[in-house]
Parts: sequence; structure tokens; C-alpha cells
Amino acid sequence: MYRVVLENLQLLPLLPRFNLKSGFGEKSVDEVCRAHGVNTDFFLEIANAYLDELYVPSEGLSLFSLGTMVNYIKSTHNYYTDIALPMVEEKIHRLMERSKLSEKEVHLVINFFNDYKKDFMTHISQEEEHILPYVLELERQSSLKKPDPKFIQKLRSYSISEFEQEHDRLEISLEHLSELIIKYLPPFDDLQLCHQVLNDLSILMKDLVDHADMEDKVLIPRVAELERELLNSGSLA
Ligand SMILES: [Fe+2]
Ligand SMILES: [Fe+2]
Repeated sequence: MYRVVLENLQLLPLLPRFNLKSGFGEKSVDEVCRAHGVNTDFFLEIANAYLDELYVPSEGLSLFSLGTMVNYIKSTHNYYTDIALPMVEEKIHRLMERSKLSEKEVHLVINFFNDYKKDFMTHISQEEEHILPYVLELERQSSLKKPDPKFIQKLRSYSISEFEQEHDRLEISLEHLSELIIKYLPPFDDLQLCHQVLNDLSILMKDLVDHADMEDKVLIPRVAELERELLNSGSLA
């Protein structure tokens, strides 16, 4: 495991999502995963998806249960809200304090980030409070011999396609923030910190692309398929 991480440091942000901590010793990937109750195949699939730009998410990930995916999506949300966003926020504030920007320019950056954070939290809570519980319930109902007729009735008026249509991409605004720093604001004296902020934003953007791809290209099609199956079984009953 240590060699995999050492040779692919981009994997570091994945570790907290699986509750894996460094200090792996000579343990293999499988041994580390097993010791932490992590499905090794799922971890490897996610790690490959994370490393390979050309990875097609729908192929390997479709082998896992929706429950496994929902757990991963939730822990990724926690990683964003508890680690990634506060980390970049703290650096942006520090960069602003050390800059010679006007008060107006500082407000522009801080307000932009605060607005982004608000939209981000709304996006996450909508998924956590409505979509993910719905996905779990759909998977549960599909596993039952006799699914609840009320649930099937609900499926006649609601489908995951509603969520699909309004599911926005969280990485786009971050790109605008990087653009603001690189293109429009005067140069920063603390170059190292400025580069760290841009680097953090770029890593987070890529992470958000992977995350949205998993939701859009793996989760939603699988959910839509289950909805169809359940509706068909309901109309046959
Ligand atoms: Fe999400
Ligand atoms: Fe999302």
C-alpha cells in the first residue's frame, strides 16, 4: 500500500474517505483495506478512476451496490465540507491578509468564496437529505419480493431524472475564482501562498469533476434502471 500511495500522491485526498491513515508498513492494499472494513475492489476502482483521466466510470463501478456508492458519496461530501473547503478557505483568507489588494478587491474575493460555499452546502444537503435516502430506499424496495405499493405509486410521479436535470457542476465557479486571481487581480507578493491556493483549487476542481461524473454517469443511470424495473414489476403485479 505504501508504494501505491508514494508513487501516486494524488491519492492522498482519497484516504480519509475510506478512513485509511498512513503508517501502512509493509501491508498490501488488500490487507490495509480489510483491516479497515473497506471493500478492496471498490477502493481500487475508485483509485483507478481518480488517477486515470480516460477512465470510464460506468464500467467497473456498476458492479457495486448502490449502498456502497452512497456511502462513498457521503464520505466524499464530508471530505469536502470538513477538509478540502476549510483548507482552501483558510489559505484564501491568509492570501488576502498578506496582499496589497484594495478593500473592494478583498471583498470581491471573500464574497465570491462565501457565495460559492453557500451554494456548495445547499447542493450537498439536497443530495444528503433527499436524493441519497431515496436511492437507498429504491435499492431496498427492489430487493423485496413485494415492494411497497405506495413506493411504486410515488415512482409514477417522481423519477431521478428530475434531479439529473437540475444537478449543477460545482467545479465551474472554482474555475472562475482561479481566473479572477490569475487574470484580473494585481499580482500577489506571497507567490508561494498564491500558488498553493491555485493548486488547491485545481485539485478540488478535478475531484469535483470525478464526483459529479460518479453521480451523473454511474449513480443516476443505475437508479433510473432500477426505477424502470420496479415500475414494470409493479404494473405486472
Ligand atoms: Fe455529491
Ligand atoms: Fe452532486
